[in-house]
Amino acid sequence: MPYAIVAERPGGPEVLRPVDIAPPMPGQGEVLIRQTAVGLNFIDIYIRGGAYPWPVEKNLILGCEGAGVVEASGPGVTGFAEGDRVAYTVPNGAYATHRLVPAAMLVHLPGGVSDIQAAGSMLKGLTAHYLLNESYAARSGETVLFHAAAGGVGLLAGQWLAARGVHAIGTAGGAAKCSLARGNGYAETIDYRAEDFVTRTRELTDGAGVAAVYDSVGRDTVMGSLDCLQTFGTLVSFGQSSGPADDFRISHLARSSLRLQRPVLFHYTAARDWLHTAAADLFTAIADGTLSVHVAATRPLTEVAQAHDDLEGRKTTGSTVLIP
Ligand SMILES: NC(=O)c1ccc[n+]([C@@H]2O[C@H](COP(=O)([O-])OP(=O)(O)OC[C@H]3O[C@@H](n4cnc5c(N)ncnc54)[C@H](OP(=O)(O)O)[C@@H]3O)[C@@H](O)[C@H]2O)c1
Repeated sequence: MPYAIVAERPGGPEVLRPVDIAPPMPGQGEVLIRQTAVGLNFIDIYIRGGAYPWPVEKNLILGCEGAGVVEASGPGVTGFAEGDRVAYTVPNGAYATHRLVPAAMLVHLPGGVSDIQAAGSMLKGLTAHYLLNESYAARSGETVLFHAAAGGVGLLAGQWLAARGVHAIGTAGGAAKCSLARGNGYAETIDYRAEDFVTRTRELTDGAGVAAVYDSVGRDTVMGSLDCLQTFGTLVSFGQSSGPADDFRISHLARSSLRLQRPVLFHYTAARDWLHTAAADLFTAIADGTLSVHVAATRPLTEVAQAHDDLEGRKTTGSTVLIP
């Protein structure tokens, strides 16, 4: 029976509840997908909890990443046929057995990439792609710091940084997460729940600091991240899993002529050429073994509330994939 997980208002995981749906008819330029795997992302938590704006009047289907099989195409769609394996990352609508996606936002899945790998990496892997190529393109031999290194984005970024010859330091909460990060490309790790990551980063770089910090933790780390940077270094602030960094002021960048970017994936994926090139890079890297997608948990989509609890409670590593 087709169903979706719907939230009527912002709140805790308990606002997520299943409702029966009729698979929608694709309109102009749209493709109907029968979904086989749906990715869980921290942005789902921000929207569900009200940290990010509620984008609809009432009932919202969360979820921004998925893979599946084309069931039907609307008028004007070319290049996609019934039975094609596809994947996407677009804001909201993914927590469902069936969904419509604009054909412009869909990519074909090659044989070397499974549906679960795609659902665990479209949003997170394309994020790692723009972070490491557009936000701050770290070069071989440079040292950078990446927070939440054992998370979904973090594990993919670590592998890509190592493949490029970058000396990546990763922070993570606890010894087990640090060990996992070291197995996924990070040359050094810092358990930032047990030791001061600024002091340790300075020690690891002989006082010089790092060329860039990729910071998705926000409130708990941003001010310290600035202190980890070398002169003319770059802070890439791309998330706020601990809350917004309200203490930050532009004048803080003056301490060593720092650069700052606050990027959003969907501004990159809106450009069709970028989406297709970056997805091709991602799938090639998965298929040739450069990237391993660490899907640490798969769960039925009906257990999404528990999955939210685990992600919000810092209990997860890598990607969580929900099966409709
Ligand atoms: N701007 C963009 O385009 C974009 C795109 C994708 C993702 N993101 C951001 O990137 C981050 C990673 O996303 P993800 O889906 O891969 O999640 P994730 O990294 O798998 O999970 C978030 C991790 O953040 C760490 N964390 C630190 N303080 C936390 C707190 N107070 N509460 C909860 N977690 C905390 C935890 O790792 P430890 O236990 O190791 O601290 C947790 O496992 C998120 O902030 C997300 O919003 C941004």
